[in-house]
Amino acid sequence: MTKHYNVALDGPSGAGKSTIAKLLSSRLKIMYLDTGALYRAVGLKAFRDGWKEDDSAVAELIKSVSISVKYDEETGKQLVFLDGENVSEEIRRDFVSGYGSRFSALPSVRAALLDLQRHIAKEYSSVLDGRDIGTFVLPNAEFKFFLTASVDVRAKRRYDELIARGQEADLEKVRADIEARDYRDMNRAVAPLKKADDAVVIDSSELSVEEVADKMLKIINGAE
Ligand code: DC
Repeated sequence: MTKHYNVALDGPSGAGKSTIAKLLSSRLKIMYLDTGALYRAVGLKAFRDGWKEDDSAVAELIKSVSISVKYDEETGKQLVFLDGENVSEEIRRDFVSGYGSRFSALPSVRAALLDLQRHIAKEYSSVLDGRDIGTFVLPNAEFKFFLTASVDVRAKRRYDELIARGQEADLEKVRADIEARDYRDMNRAVAPLKKADDAVVIDSSELSVEEVADKMLKIINGAE
């Protein structure tokens, strides 16, 4: 496919969005924007500076925060910069997930990150993964998927990921955190996690990464 197009990939934490998005973007030879990383960068800033979850206060504070992405030329990996500092590793720490989720509920945070996401999507054909890409950021995306999986499967995946990174983790706590995050992400007033009416739903609980990607690729390539 030579024309410009975007793939919106939404779903709850731990459904496998980033793994699938990476695989899809490399198969399709297009960009991948991990939008959760942007919210995590804001969460990290909030943690470091002791921000309160107060929308009007954050609206002021966020004006002087710079968040940007670059792509590592060798690995193609997305790097995230917070005020010029490469925070790509730090934003993956477990405590940052909660801060990212809490501050992502504030309208001022969502507004601050909207232009960056739309700009990248307009500039490059890309896969964007997140919570509100198909519903809000790119309502006209050419392809929309909603990837989900059972809470147990998602908790186990997140736990394995943390252990593989050499971090400490407790499966029950990871499960409780995921449930709390689902609740917050689905019940916030602005741009909640919700399937777009025209998104294709894929439940990855019983599917391998390859099987999920193949289902999506069939749909995308079938549209050529
Ligand atoms: O996908 P993730 O776990 O890296 O996302 C971190 C948090 O950011 C998540 O709890 C919800 C929020 N988020 C969001 O609100 N909208 C997005 N498009 C992406 C992430």
